[in-house]
Amino acid sequence: MSEFTDRFTDVVAPVIAFDNGVEMAEARGAWLTDAAGKRYLDFGTGISVTNCGHNHPRIVAAAHEQLDKVWHGGGTFRYDSYVSAAEQLVSVAPEPIDMFFFMNSGAEAVEAAVKLARHTTGRQGVVVFRGGFHGRTMGSVSYTTSSVKYRTGYHPLLPSVFVTPFPHPYRQGLTEEEATERALHELRAMLRHVVAPEDIACFLIEPVQGEGGYYPAPASFLRELREVADRYGILLIADEIQTGFGRTGTWWGIDNYDITPDIITIGKAIANGLPLSAIGSSKDLFGKWPPGVHGTTFGGNAVACAAAVEVVNVVNEALPTVPALSEQAFAGLRSVQANHPTVGDVRGLGLMIGVELVDGDGRPDSAALEFVRTHLLETGMIFHPCGPDHNIIRFIPPLVISPEDLDHGIGLIDDALTAWEGRS
Ligand SMILES: Cc1ncc(COP(=O)(O)O)c(C=O)c1O
Repeated sequence: MSEFTDRFTDVVAPVIAFDNGVEMAEARGAWLTDAAGKRYLDFGTGISVTNCGHNHPRIVAAAHEQLDKVWHGGGTFRYDSYVSAAEQLVSVAPEPIDMFFFMNSGAEAVEAAVKLARHTTGRQGVVVFRGGFHGRTMGSVSYTTSSVKYRTGYHPLLPSVFVTPFPHPYRQGLTEEEATERALHELRAMLRHVVAPEDIACFLIEPVQGEGGYYPAPASFLRELREVADRYGILLIADEIQTGFGRTGTWWGIDNYDITPDIITIGKAIANGLPLSAIGSSKDLFGKWPPGVHGTTFGGNAVACAAAVEVVNVVNEALPTVPALSEQAFAGLRSVQANHPTVGDVRGLGLMIGVELVDGDGRPDSAALEFVRTHLLETGMIFHPCGPDHNIIRFIPPLVISPEDLDHGIGLIDDALTAWEGRS
C-alpha cells in the first residue's frame, strides 16, 4: 500500500467506492497522469462528465474569469453567468423546453423534476423502468433499480413508485421487437391492475439506460410511453444526466427519437466537472410552480454556470465529429467482438457504448471484467464498469478524442481480452 492509500483510507469513509486506487495528479484532454508520472487514456470521463476533455482551455479560462468577479449568489442576488447558462441551454434544448432551474447534482435534479411533476399534476404516482439509475438520495434511490445494492438497507423507500420493465433484448435473449412488446404488455397490465393512469404524475426514463447496462430505449417503446402520457395527462421526464451533452451523437439522448419530453434532468457534463445540474421544462409548466416552493443554496453557482456557457460552445463544435468517431468505435469494437468470444454484445448510441463480457455459456462474466480492468490499468487506460452483474465496459471517451487515441484505446481492450482468454 502506498503512503497516499494509507492517508486516504485513514480519513475517507470507505462507502465512497472509487473505481481504482490511482492517485491522479494531472489531466488534459483524453489523458490523465498519476502522481508517479504514468499516463492513462481516459475512457471513463468521470462517467460522462468530462465530455469536452479534461481541463479544456476555453472552459478553464471562462471559470477563471468568473472566479475574479462573483462566486456565489445562492438565491439572494442575480448574476449574468446564471442567465447566460440558461440561455445557452435553451438554444440547444429539445422541444418544448425553453426554461431552466439550476441545482448541484444529478440526484437533486431528479428529485426536483419529480417534485415539479407532482406539484403541477396534483398526482403522486411515479413510474420508473427496471434497470434505471436516477441517483442515490432517498427520493432518487426510490426510482433507481439498476442494482439492488443501491436500495438494500434503506427501506422503506418512497411509496407510490411503480417499477415496470425496460426492454433488455440481449440479456432477455429476445429481439428488440419481442422485448419491447413484452415490456409494453407489462406496462399495460400495471395500468390495469396496480395503479390507475389518473394517479400517475410522471414516467421517469433514461433514453439510454446507463448504470443499468447501456441499453438504448427502443423507439417504439418511447413512442407508446408518449402516447399513454398524452392520453392521461402524465408528464414524461427524460433523465438526460448521462445521455446529454452530445454523448449519444445528438445534443440529447431524446433527440435520437421522434418524441418530445415534458421535463429533462441534466447534470454530469453540464460544466465539464464543476458541480452543476438543472431541470428544463416549458414556460407553461414552470409557470405552475410558484416562487419559493422549491430552492437551493449552492445551485447555479456563478463559476459553474460560467463554465457551462463555454461547455455548450465546445459541445456545439465537437458534435459534428461524433458520428464519424462513433462509426469508428463501433467498427473497432465489433471487430474485437469477432475475435473474442468473451465479448457477447456491443451496443449503444454515439459515444455511449456498452461492451458486455460473458462466459462460455453467455452468462455475465464479472471476473473477465475485473481482469480486463486491471490489465488496462497496467497498460494505461481507464474505464468504468456498469450493469447489475458488473460485466459491462462503459466505452465513453471524451467527444474531443482524436481518431488515433480512439484506435489506441480499442487496441488496448483487444490486448486485455487476448490476455484474459490466453490465461493459464
Ligand atoms: C441517468 C442518471 N441519473 C442520475 C444520476 C445521479 O447523478 P449524481 O451522481 O450527480 O447525483 C446519474 C449519475 O450518477 C445518472 O447517470
